[in-house]
Amino acid sequence: MCGIVGYIGEKQAATLLVDGLKRLEYRGYDSAGVSLMNGKGVETRKAKGKIAMLEKAISSQPIHGKVGIAHTRWATHGPPNECNAHPHHDCTGKISVVHNGIIENYGPLRAMLKKTGHTFVSDTDTEVLAHLIEAAFDGNLEDAVVDALALVEGTYGIAVLSADDPEKIVAARKGSPLLIGIGEGENYVASDVAAILAHTRQVVYLDDGEMAIVKRDGYQVCDLDQQTIKKRVNRIEWDLDQIEKGGFDHFMLKEIMEQPHTIENTMRGRLVTEEGFSKLGGLNLTMDDLQNLDQIIITACGTSWHSALIGELMIEEHARIRCEVEYASEFRYRNPIVTDRTLCVVISQSGETADTLAAMREAKRRGAKTLGLVNQVGSTIAREDDGGIYLHAGPEIGVASTKAFTSQVIALALLTLKLGRLRNMSVVQGREIAQAMEALPGQIQSILDRAKEIEKIAEAFVDATNFLYLGRGYNFPVALEGALKLKEISYIHAEGYPAAEMKHGPIALIDADMPVVFIAPHDSVFDKVVSNVQEVKARGGRVIAITSRHEDSLDGKIDYEFRIPQTIDMLNPVLAAIPLQLLAYYIAAKRGLNVDQPRNLAKSVTVE
Ligand code: M6R
Repeated sequence: MCGIVGYIGEKQAATLLVDGLKRLEYRGYDSAGVSLMNGKGVETRKAKGKIAMLEKAISSQPIHGKVGIAHTRWATHGPPNECNAHPHHDCTGKISVVHNGIIENYGPLRAMLKKTGHTFVSDTDTEVLAHLIEAAFDGNLEDAVVDALALVEGTYGIAVLSADDPEKIVAARKGSPLLIGIGEGENYVASDVAAILAHTRQVVYLDDGEMAIVKRDGYQVCDLDQQTIKKRVNRIEWDLDQIEKGGFDHFMLKEIMEQPHTIENTMRGRLVTEEGFSKLGGLNLTMDDLQNLDQIIITACGTSWHSALIGELMIEEHARIRCEVEYASEFRYRNPIVTDRTLCVVISQSGETADTLAAMREAKRRGAKTLGLVNQVGSTIAREDDGGIYLHAGPEIGVASTKAFTSQVIALALLTLKLGRLRNMSVVQGREIAQAMEALPGQIQSILDRAKEIEKIAEAFVDATNFLYLGRGYNFPVALEGALKLKEISYIHAEGYPAAEMKHGPIALIDADMPVVFIAPHDSVFDKVVSNVQEVKARGGRVIAITSRHEDSLDGKIDYEFRIPQTIDMLNPVLAAIPLQLLAYYIAAKRGLNVDQPRNLAKSVTVE
């Protein structure tokens, strides 16, 4: 979604800000812009489309200045064009604002401002902020920002410049992530640490209701009553090469290939194989809390919701605790049964997804303990949950989630071990699970070493227009995930179904033009899946099967086969997901599509 980067220091800011925007490209955007203080006033360049277009605009009309703000926009109010791109200005052009989030009452505010003589040039909600700040400005920018924000309903992460108070950037946050990057004689503002990691690792995360006054030689954080707040400085442990492609054509492929290491990182120091147990230091739950749980609700969106479905199966089968999975966007608006014996597990790669965050807050309000399974360290969910399990998968840049998914499943397996062993899971059973988990990195590597086989299968389906993914038990969520991966990056319509449900409707679609991917490793429901394969074949469908060994019962029934190593049922999703990620990747790449930034999508969906 939208991205913000700001700089104040001694360097020329234009290139630095544009480079920062490039690091945010992965979040998805449709236009970009930059404003600098040029010594006389605020000067702005904007462009529709890719950041390269903004660079072109800057090189044809260069701008100079050592204080500036920049933005990538993902259109909400008004089409993506140069006029609607941020930064936005007041009537005088002296105030410049970039904004992530949505100003919900922008309609009445705009009408009120127009009545008092303000002229609007864009369709955006953001422009009202610039005019509200103008109306309140009396020589001090932070005072004007506070007054303006008092009138605003909605969500925002903003950074503001004023030519009449030029030695600062004022930033404020409510509902949209924002942080300060701390340098030497220079400071930064950003919506995502990736934008500034090339310059500093020291960051301060703003919380909702906080404002920062950022100057060259320091910063101050306060609430909207301007009471100073003491903030913790965090050190970012990521390396720059983790947010670079490192020789791969796309981030997605790099991230798929990283999975032997990323799941190892998720398990590191947590798996106690001999005792069939897991150590999870960040849960912040007492033994009593854990033993008294009578219900777990897992809430998430998209891919994270798919891993939640796998978690539900693991937890009910092995820890014997009632577990429900809810789309976060639905959970937040219904009237769910939650008690103080409910644990609400919240899964999010980014830790910033608006629906997931709102669902977590709702569960808290209703008395549940909350546990975040989050990848992005320091993200809002990670800061607001009661406890958590960080995924430690490293930054995920490709919009299609891959390594976060497998790490989420691993984190859920660790949680299952913990809860199961506190109940009636035997040490032998726990050890069997732990040993199978330990084997996964090597098994994933053996799949990745055969990526070419998947690439060959992909070649045969580049022109397909529909796909069906079928699986049962633990592999039904994998079918959903395989279909989501394909549709989001290749724009091929794809659906995931429980294999046996096919005969209740989707079977009508089967013909020679409908490729059907079966996730059919040898597990407790394998024999049932074979009958479904037979049903597809009998209707002329083309079958791609993910299997785990030779099966006589499949002889003559499958057109393409890819074997994954054998593991226990609950861990099959980790292995089965890999060829499906590769299949989606190769099909999209062969169609010449922008794999890392598919159309209309954003990496982190921070609006409702
Ligand atoms: O950051 P989150 O895990 O909360 O994101 C949730 C979804 O937006 C995300 O998984 C989305 O579905 C991905 N594009 C899937 O690849």
